[in-house]
This record gives sequence, structure tokens and C-alpha cells, in this order.
Amino acid sequence: MSKTIIAPSVLSADFSRLGEEVEAIDRAGADWIHLDVMDGHFVPNITFGPPIIKAIRGRTKKLFDAHLMIAPTDAYLAAFADAGCDNITVHAEAGPHLDRSLHAIRELGKTAGVAINPATPESAIEYVLDRLSLILVMTVNPGFGGQSFISAVVDKVRRVKALIGDRPIRIEIDGGVAPDTAPLVVAAGADVLVAGSAIFKGGTEASYRANIEAIRSAADKARR
Ligand code: DX5
Ligand code: ZN
Repeated sequence: MSKTIIAPSVLSADFSRLGEEVEAIDRAGADWIHLDVMDGHFVPNITFGPPIIKAIRGRTKKLFDAHLMIAPTDAYLAAFADAGCDNITVHAEAGPHLDRSLHAIRELGKTAGVAINPATPESAIEYVLDRLSLILVMTVNPGFGGQSFISAVVDKVRRVKALIGDRPIRIEIDGGVAPDTAPLVVAAGADVLVAGSAIFKGGTEASYRANIEAIRSAADKARR
């Protein structure tokens, strides 16, 4: 787990050309592809589900990182696994049986992540650490791209890092990540940076490449 993983969120892509956008972001240097699934119930917005993910799966070989902002989750996990998601992250706040959801994801042969909202303490994941590959620390309230980074969460990233200890668990940050905020979370222990608006701005492959590079170089400096 050396350098920072950059995971563009296709939430900020041009949905009318989603396949081409995934190919462009792949060529531009994305490490993972972040997929924001919203249900209009757990979060106040609706995006896409397994059929769309399946439709773009063939456009890249990069890891598909699904961020499920849906409740309930368990009934849909198999559909997301079948659609080609490699990592499936569920919210700690989305249901009463987090341990069961994580077990189900692993039974499907996928890696499991847990996301925690800005107001959720890190203690919510204390007893499921051994089922996890990833902890997604939200730095905005989930539901929309383009919101401002909540800097109070940086301290929580430090606490999550301490909680993980020497377990092979990555810390992912999602919300308001840009060249100015990336160093704050990387210095606190983040391994994976999700970014939507800061990467897709400009609307061309050349701008995506420059935007990814700007975040990566800011992150790498903070890591030393
Ligand atoms: C928010 C989503 C994020 C979002 C990030 O609910 O989980 O992945 O796309 O968007 P930016 O990078 O624009 O804050
Ligand atoms: Zn996300």
C-alpha cells in the first residue's frame, strides 16, 4: 500500500456518454472507478444501479469500487456482484445488521467496505474490522457531487488509522477532494481518494489527466 490510489467518481461524468467517459478516465490515469449508487431513500438523490454498471463493465479492466448509498442493502448485493463490482461498500448507517452485510459481500467473492457519514463516530466499525478491506470516511454528507469538504472529519481519519493498526485495511476519502484538500487527509492516513467534480471538470481527456495528476502530486507530497 505505497502510493495514493485515485478513484474518479463517474457521478460527475457526462451520463449520455458514460462508456466513453469511463474509457477516457482509464486512459487519463484513474486507478479505480468509483460508482456512486443512490436510492432516493437513504440519500436524497437517485443515480444508477446494476444494469448501468454491467453496461460499462467491459470498457475498462480497472477495479470497480461500488459505493452503495441505499437502504436496505442486503437484497441487492448479489446483483452488484454479478454486474462486475470488485469492491462493495455499504454504509454503517444503512441498516441494523452491518456484520451480516459484510459477511454476505465476502461470500459473493468480493472485497467489503464500510462507509461512515460525517456525523458517525469511528466506533461504529470497531467490531467489524476483521471483515473489512476498506473504510470509506465521508468528508461530505452523501447524496451529491460538488459539495464542500468538511475539515472537521480530518481528525476522524487519524482515529480510524489508529483503530486499523496493522490490519490490511485501506482508508478511502470521498467528498470535496481536490489538490488543496487531498494533502490534509493523506497526512492523516488516507490511501484512496475519490473525486468527482475536481477530476471531471474541463470535460476532456486531457483535462482529466491534468486533474488526476494535480491531486496525485499534492497527495504524494503529503505522504512523505
Ligand atoms: C457523494 C458521493 C461522492 C461524490 C464526490 O455522495 O459519494 O463520490 O461523487 O463528489 P465530489 O468529488 O464532487 O465531492
Ligand atoms: Zn462515493
